[in-house]
Amino acid sequence: MKRYVVALVGIGLVGTEIVRVLKERDFPMSELRVMATRDREEDIDGNTYWVSATSMERLHGVDFAFFAGTEGARGASREWGWKAVEAGALVIDNGDDFRMDPRAPLVVPEVNPEALRSHQGLVANPNCSTIQMVAALAPLHRAAGIKRVVVSTYQAVSGTGKAAVDELLEQIAVSLRGEPVEPRVYPHTIAFNCFPHISSLRDEYPGYYGEEIKMIKETRKILDAPEMAITATCVRVPVFSGHSEAINVQFERPLSPDEARRLLSETPGILVVDNPAEAVYPTPRLCTGRDEVLVGRVRQDPSAENALDMWVVADNIRKGAALNAVQIAEKMIEMGLR
Ligand SMILES: NC(=O)c1ccc[n+]([C@@H]2O[C@H](COP(=O)([O-])OP(=O)(O)OC[C@H]3O[C@@H](n4cnc5c(N)ncnc54)[C@H](OP(=O)(O)O)[C@@H]3O)[C@@H](O)[C@H]2O)c1
Repeated sequence: MKRYVVALVGIGLVGTEIVRVLKERDFPMSELRVMATRDREEDIDGNTYWVSATSMERLHGVDFAFFAGTEGARGASREWGWKAVEAGALVIDNGDDFRMDPRAPLVVPEVNPEALRSHQGLVANPNCSTIQMVAALAPLHRAAGIKRVVVSTYQAVSGTGKAAVDELLEQIAVSLRGEPVEPRVYPHTIAFNCFPHISSLRDEYPGYYGEEIKMIKETRKILDAPEMAITATCVRVPVFSGHSEAINVQFERPLSPDEARRLLSETPGILVVDNPAEAVYPTPRLCTGRDEVLVGRVRQDPSAENALDMWVVADNIRKGAALNAVQIAEKMIEMGLR
């Protein structure tokens, strides 16, 4: 079996999880080159990794380059992404910089693997909240045609990165001591609080924050449904790991909760956890460390025709980022695209 030279740019929460997932899934690697902003050693689960400052020298000769650096103008992908492609690497980018770029397929391997065939060297990994939502919506969309989606999210602080996890831990301790809390990462205290504000306002959708716009636009791109009606409210909650979503979905054709559960349970990567009478449904604690997208509380919405409600929960660092990125690479190998 062919083995690949793999680079990882960014070794925060997502990058660290990518190292774990590559190892767990025995990804066919001959070498792993880890890069970030500066040289040092990093310990991951008792193994020491040499981390170098990102450079073209280190990106040369790489087969797969996973980008898990900060987004935006000073982030890793804008600076190094397409240069790595020119040097011959297949880039899988976790950030937001190229998700809506027509050159970049936006892929959840269980949902739209065929989009990989049109790649031009850079494949975008969707936003964490989008991945778990489309994973649950895709089999239902194929069966009954989605007319409209209304989603509200309850998103963990790990979605913001390591600094936010540290901030929640610190704020919980400070609050319990009865001392005043100084928010740094977020606009408000996140301990014992929640707020409907993820990312920044954008002119294109007045009143919507960036995460909500990502969910709308990325879902349309992945499901190849440019006109699909979707609205989202994204809320940050004081949970460390695991995003939860209350999704109301209206279909073109009738779809019963039993049929939806059957379709979902036959879909790879989905686990139906749905026995409300016994208080059995997905929770962030239940999903943490798991690979599947958990779906429960599937029920008929009596207020609209052909509509269902459901509750979808997934580990935002695994399926929402690291696992999906590695699965994209595995799928490309399987499809003979690399
Ligand atoms: N957390 C999630 O749930 C999630 C889900 C989906 C997608 N993502 C995306 O994945 C990416 C990483 O997220 P994260 O949560 O792991 O962030 P993080 O914990 O803040 O880590 C960011 C990493 O990027 C490195 N970095 C920043 N700028 C760089 C540059 N110009 N060149 C090279 N390396 C650079 C940092 O290097 P140093 O260590 O040297 O400072 C650090 O290792 C982001 O784009 C994020 O939006 C995150």
